[in-house]
Amino acid sequence: MDEVICVDAGSWGIAWCVDHEGRLRQLGVGPDARRATVDVPAAFYPLAHPCWGEDPLRDTPLRVTHADGMLTTRLAHQGSRVDVDDMVTRTVIETRDEIQPFTVRFCFEADASCGVIEAWLEIVHHETGPVLVQAYDSISPLFVGGEFGLTHFGGGGWAQEWAPTSERLTPGTKVIDSFGGIQPHLQRSPVALLALGREPVTETTGAVLGFSVGWCGNVRLAADLRLDGTLRFRAGANPVGAEYRLDPGTTLSTPKVAMVWSEAGLGDMSRRFHDWIARTGVRQPDRLRPLVINNWEATFFDFDHDRLVGLMDRAADLGGNVFLLDDGWFGTTFPRNDDDQGLGDWQENTEKLPGGLAALCEAAHKRGLDFGIWVEPEMVSPRSELYGAHPDWVIRDARQPREHRQQLALDLLRDDVFDFAAGVVDSTLAAAPGTAYVKWDANRSISDPGSTALANDRQSNLNVDLARRTDALMARVAAAHPDTVMMLCASGGGRVDHASLRHFHEVWTSDNTDPVERVVMQWGFSHVFPARTMAAHVTRMGDRPLEFACAVALSGRFGFDLDLAALDPDELRICRHAVAVARLTQPLVQFGRLHRLLSPAAADSPGAVLAYVSDQGDLAVVFAYQLQDRPTDGDQSVEIPLAGLGTSGTGPARFRAQQLRLDAGAASFDVEPVGAPLEVLTWELAGRHTAGTWLLSAVTR
Ligand code: DGJ
Repeated sequence: MDEVICVDAGSWGIAWCVDHEGRLRQLGVGPDARRATVDVPAAFYPLAHPCWGEDPLRDTPLRVTHADGMLTTRLAHQGSRVDVDDMVTRTVIETRDEIQPFTVRFCFEADASCGVIEAWLEIVHHETGPVLVQAYDSISPLFVGGEFGLTHFGGGGWAQEWAPTSERLTPGTKVIDSFGGIQPHLQRSPVALLALGREPVTETTGAVLGFSVGWCGNVRLAADLRLDGTLRFRAGANPVGAEYRLDPGTTLSTPKVAMVWSEAGLGDMSRRFHDWIARTGVRQPDRLRPLVINNWEATFFDFDHDRLVGLMDRAADLGGNVFLLDDGWFGTTFPRNDDDQGLGDWQENTEKLPGGLAALCEAAHKRGLDFGIWVEPEMVSPRSELYGAHPDWVIRDARQPREHRQQLALDLLRDDVFDFAAGVVDSTLAAAPGTAYVKWDANRSISDPGSTALANDRQSNLNVDLARRTDALMARVAAAHPDTVMMLCASGGGRVDHASLRHFHEVWTSDNTDPVERVVMQWGFSHVFPARTMAAHVTRMGDRPLEFACAVALSGRFGFDLDLAALDPDELRICRHAVAVARLTQPLVQFGRLHRLLSPAAADSPGAVLAYVSDQGDLAVVFAYQLQDRPTDGDQSVEIPLAGLGTSGTGPARFRAQQLRLDAGAASFDVEPVGAPLEVLTWELAGRHTAGTWLLSAVTR
C-alpha cells in the first residue's frame, strides 16, 4: 500500500500521499483524513500544494521565478520526518524541484490535546543567484463537492474591529486581505471561518474549519471556488507588493497558519483555539490578569503629577491592581501634549511630571497599586529630537514620506534602530524600577515602503522582513522583562494575531469602547482568542448606562478608562459593585470555557448571552446584554437554556443561580439568590441596554 503522510490532530487531520513522479497529493482533510488510504493510483488525487505551471486553471499557492528565469516549479518528495513531543507532533515533508536546486519544506505542528494544526513553509535554494518568490501561501487545502460558507471579521477601519460578515461562497475567488503592515485589523482580521456544508454552522452543530494567520504584517486568505464544487483555500502573508528576493542558502519561512476543525460547531472550534492559545500562545497563561485602571480616556494628554495621583487615589480605593499611564508623559524639547510631536524622545516631561515616572511609580506603590506605562517604540514624530538627529532612521524611499497621525515608522531593519526600539522599553522601565505593566502601541500603517537596510533590488522584501524583525523585537523585549505584564495595542485592536500574542499577556481589543458595539466586537474576537487576552475597559463612550458599560467590560479582562475622580456617588457605587463582581467572576472569565448562548446576530435577537464555565462544569458566570429596543408591553423575557454548559458539552444542566446586581440601588454589593435550581435562565428584558449577570453553581442530580 502507498505511504500515507498524515498530520494527525487527534480529532481531524491532513493526509497526503506521493505519486509515481514524487508529487505530493492530498488524500483528505478533516476527521476522515486520519484513516485515509490510497485506494486508487496516487496521481488521481489532487495536488496538495500546486506550484505555478502545474495547475493551469487556478492561481497557485507557490509562484517563483528561478535564478535562470524559469517560471515553473515542480516539487518532488525527498523524505519526511516526524517528531513526537508530548501532545505535539512535528512533521516536516521535504521536497525539491525536479531540476532546480530549490527546496520547500512543508512544516506542521499538530497539537492533539486541542485539535490544532499549525502549518507553514520553509523555502531555501542553492541556485546561481537570487530567486524571486512571488506567491508564498502557507497552506492550500482543497475541499471537494460541497457548499461553503465563509465568516470573516473587521473591515470598517479604525474602531471597527471584528464586525462579522458571513456569506455563502459562490464561484470565483473571495479574497480577504490586509495592507499597511502594522494594523491589519483596519482592513480584515487575520482570521476566517469556513463552514463546510449546506446547513449554516451554529454554536453547537455543523462542520467548520477555523483559520488564524500568525503574522504581524499583511495577510491574505483566499477561497477559490469552482463550478465543479472544488474549493482551494489559501492563507498566509499577503504577497502583493511583497515579492521576496531570496538569496542562495537563506531561508524564507512563511507565517504559521493555525487551523481547527470542529464537527460540533463554532463553540467547540473556539474552545479548541482558546485551549491551544492558553497552552502555548500567550505569556504566563495561568497568571490572573490584573484589574487595570488606565488614564487615557479619562485625561488624554491633559494631566500632571497631581491629577494622576488623584486618579490613583480613586483607583486604590476601588480596588484596582495596576495604574496605567498612557500616551503623553515624555518629550522635553517637543513635549508630547498632543499627538503631533515628541514620539521618539522617551525622556519624562518634567513640567508635567516633576518627579518623573519614578515618583508616580512610588505613589502607586504607596497606594497598593502596581504602575504601568505606555510606549510606542517603533515610531517617531518628525517634530522630535530623535528625527532631527536621525532623519534616515525611518521607513521611506527617495520621496518625502507621508505622515499618518503626524508620525513616521522607524526602520527596524536597521540594527541601530532595532536596538534603539528595544532600548525604549528597557530605559522606560529603568526610569521607574518596579514598573509592572507595559502597553505597547503602534499608531500608523506603513506607507512609502523603503529601507536603507535593503539593497535596491531587495526593497520589496520589506514587508516580510519587517514583520519578522517586529516579531524579533517583541520577543527580545518579552525575554528581557519576563515578569512585566504586557499589552499589545495598535491604534486599538491592530495586530491581534496569534503569533504576536506569544510575546504578550493581552491585547487592547479596540479604541471603540461603546459597550453596545463592544458586545459585537468581543463576540467576534472570541471566535479565536480567549477572554484573558481581551482587555475590556469601562468608559463613557456611547453615553450608555454605567452599569451596562461595566457589565460588558466584565466579560473580558476587566478594567477602567474613566475619570474616576469625577464619578458621582451613584456612579462610584456602581463601579464598586463592578469591582466586587470582577473579584468573583474574573477567574471564571479568564480561565473558564466560553459558551456563546445567544448571538447578537441571530434573527430577532434582543442582544447577546454568553457564559464562562469552570473546567469541572460546576460553576459558571452568565452575561446577558440587551442591545435592541423592546416594545414596552407584551413578552419581556427571554428563556436561556442552560443545557450544554459544562466541560464535555453534556455537563450538568441544572444550576442554582445568583444574580449579581450592578445598579446603584444597594448600598453594598451582595449576590441575590434566584431560587430553585434552573435548567432555563429567564432573562427579563427592560428598556434599552440592560445587562444581566448571574453566577451559577451546578446542582448534583
Ligand atoms: C491608541 C490606543 O488604542 C489608545 O488606547 C491610546 O493608547 C492612544 N493610542 C494613545 O495615543
